[in-house]
Amino acid sequence: MSILSGKNILLGITGGIAAYKTASLVRLFIKAGAQVKVIMTPAAKEFITPLTLSTLSKNPVISSFTHDEDENAVWNNHVDLGLWADYMIVAPATANTLSKMATGNSDNFLLATYLSAKCPVYFAPAMDLDMYKHPTTKNTFKALQKFGNIMIPATSGELASGLVGEGRMAEPEDIVAFIEQDVIDKLLLHGKKVLITAGPTYEAIDPVRFIGNHSSGKMGFELAKAAANLGAQVFLVTGPTHQQAAHSLIEVIPVVSAQEMYEACHQVYDTVDVAILSAAVADYRPKNVADQKIKKKTASMQIELEPTKDILASLGAIKKDQFLVGFALETENEVENAKSKLSRKNLDAIVLNSLNDKGAGFGQPTNKVTIIDKELNTNAFELKSKAAVANDIFAEILKRIHA
Ligand code: CTP
Repeated sequence: MSILSGKNILLGITGGIAAYKTASLVRLFIKAGAQVKVIMTPAAKEFITPLTLSTLSKNPVISSFTHDEDENAVWNNHVDLGLWADYMIVAPATANTLSKMATGNSDNFLLATYLSAKCPVYFAPAMDLDMYKHPTTKNTFKALQKFGNIMIPATSGELASGLVGEGRMAEPEDIVAFIEQDVIDKLLLHGKKVLITAGPTYEAIDPVRFIGNHSSGKMGFELAKAAANLGAQVFLVTGPTHQQAAHSLIEVIPVVSAQEMYEACHQVYDTVDVAILSAAVADYRPKNVADQKIKKKTASMQIELEPTKDILASLGAIKKDQFLVGFALETENEVENAKSKLSRKNLDAIVLNSLNDKGAGFGQPTNKVTIIDKELNTNAFELKSKAAVANDIFAEILKRIHA
């Protein structure tokens, strides 16, 4: 899956012959799963028709502040469009448009939108070789990059003038690959590995029965998704759940019992930078597991239980540079109990959810958490969706691992 999937891409096309290649560029963005809106300068329309681009992008193409043909002319809002975009790409970017972008000129819709955009802006220059080489053009590139814009360099080859040299717009495939790589490189957990545990564990009584709990695994799966969206390689060790993790950066490691979860976590722990243990691990398991289904014989029966290994504590005991986060589900003396778990298990932070909070905990789509770090800084959050809670947890972790 492309990192651009689900993203809003604003493509600004200016008046150069390479504009004809933007039909392919729009198709590639759409194929990557992005939403695309196109803005054209008036000159760009000389090189490719808005109809081609609106058909491919499945959105109207905008090239002026008003819908010209409409007698009840509607104002096209460059501010809204600038805010809509996750990424803006100006391709082909002519020397004229680039110099206007560098000096804050906003005499057309594309330039006004550029000035309003808060997202990363990429530009792919396209011009003749002498224009490309000119000191003023070089200064323009420098100024634009100094403002934070990202240049997708032109390549060398035969130019529309018949001359051969630098100035050809990068090919559409290379533009998309450049942006994808740049986005990945800038993700805050790019190159990091994260271990997450999720779901319940099932402790066998006999071949057909087990002791388990009602954990849905949702919180752990949301944490895995949040980590992958930040660019991390995720090991998601999960007990039996109905949750699905569809992300190329998430490796799901299914387990059933606490012992299997313990082994799977220890297998990868050495390699990870962050570990978050959100699973509801059984604290006890049957001491003896029957080989055959236990038959009903007496009016009552007893199952002797023995403790499982505490995975979180075992990881805390061998912690090196990992940032280790535990969960605590409490019903009384919540903060006090969570703080005691934090130090007992040698954690960097603990996420407390109280069963006394409505909407928090097992089986709910929402959660209400308090995050406590090892300096005992305490941050209490509102009731939110578990996806939003996962983002809050990573925001807190990022503050600490990048500090
Ligand atoms: N945990 C674990 N292995 C276990 C039990 C718990 O890794 N065998 C982890 C959970 O994933 C969670 C944290 O420990 O991150 C706290 O779990 P919790 O059940 O609240 O705490 P316990 O240490 O089991 O303490 P108690 O049951 O007494 O509250």
